[in-house]
Amino acid sequence: MVLYFSATGNSAYVAKKISAMLQEEDLDLFSRLKENDTTALQSERPFVVVSPTYAWQLPHLLRDWLKRTELKGSKKIYFVLTCGNSIGNAEKGLKKLCGEIGKEYCGCAQIVMPENYIVLFQAPREEEARKIIQKAEPVMRHVAQRIASGDFLQTPNITPLHRLESGMINNMFYRFYIGSKKFRVKINCIHCGKCAAVCVKNNIQMQNGRPQWGNDCIHCMACICQCPVEAIEYGKATKGKVRYHCPVKADAPTEK
Ligand SMILES: Cc1cc2nc3c(=O)[nH]c(=O)nc-3n(C[C@H](O)[C@H](O)[C@H](O)COP(=O)(O)O)c2cc1C
Repeated sequence: MVLYFSATGNSAYVAKKISAMLQEEDLDLFSRLKENDTTALQSERPFVVVSPTYAWQLPHLLRDWLKRTELKGSKKIYFVLTCGNSIGNAEKGLKKLCGEIGKEYCGCAQIVMPENYIVLFQAPREEEARKIIQKAEPVMRHVAQRIASGDFLQTPNITPLHRLESGMINNMFYRFYIGSKKFRVKINCIHCGKCAAVCVKNNIQMQNGRPQWGNDCIHCMACICQCPVEAIEYGKATKGKVRYHCPVKADAPTEK
């Protein structure tokens, strides 16, 4: 069973591609995460968790949900992390998690997809994003083949910098950097409520038709990138930047 979380579509795309190649059922965890639904799941075939990388680790939201949700049946679990550049030493945390939830760690693949963290970086324009995804296609096929054969998924070599990124920097990122105070909505807001609907943390309330952010944000970029009229900004950091959403559908033919 392929389980996935995705804020801007990359991990959904990868999960759907891999599940189609494996002829496995896939499950979008969005509403389970949003509703804090920890009903047990059952699969006799290995679990495959597909997710974005946040600060060189599995998002804490997903890690904590996995700790609270019983995955019945197969003991094996694979991880596939999409990222803009590198998953660092995410493996260390994943192995620890597997120990805690009683699963056999079967490896973690890194799949480089378009960057979506527009608070810190630039997201690519559509044409460039399509090229990045095209480059990722063979990696997805390779990953699916290894899972189908029951092989371990190798992560790229770990350097001291990767250890620092996934360790101390990840800690500092969650403790000091993530916040929602800088979110604001511009005059062109059309009051559609999509930002609140796509917020996996239920951190956005519509008040008098305009979004108000609470203090429980994970910086997933869903609200700012999925706003249909680009009415959301994060301080000055996102001004003039491309809003990103995966431009391809998993059931579309692969671009050559
Ligand atoms: C809060 C946050 C942190 C991120 N941290 C990393 C990172 O450590 N390394 C990296 O290469 N990409 C990082 N990214 C980029 C995303 O992992 C990447 O674009 C991912 O494919 C987005 O997946 P989605 O479209 O399924 O949400 C980060 C993105 C966000 C929003």
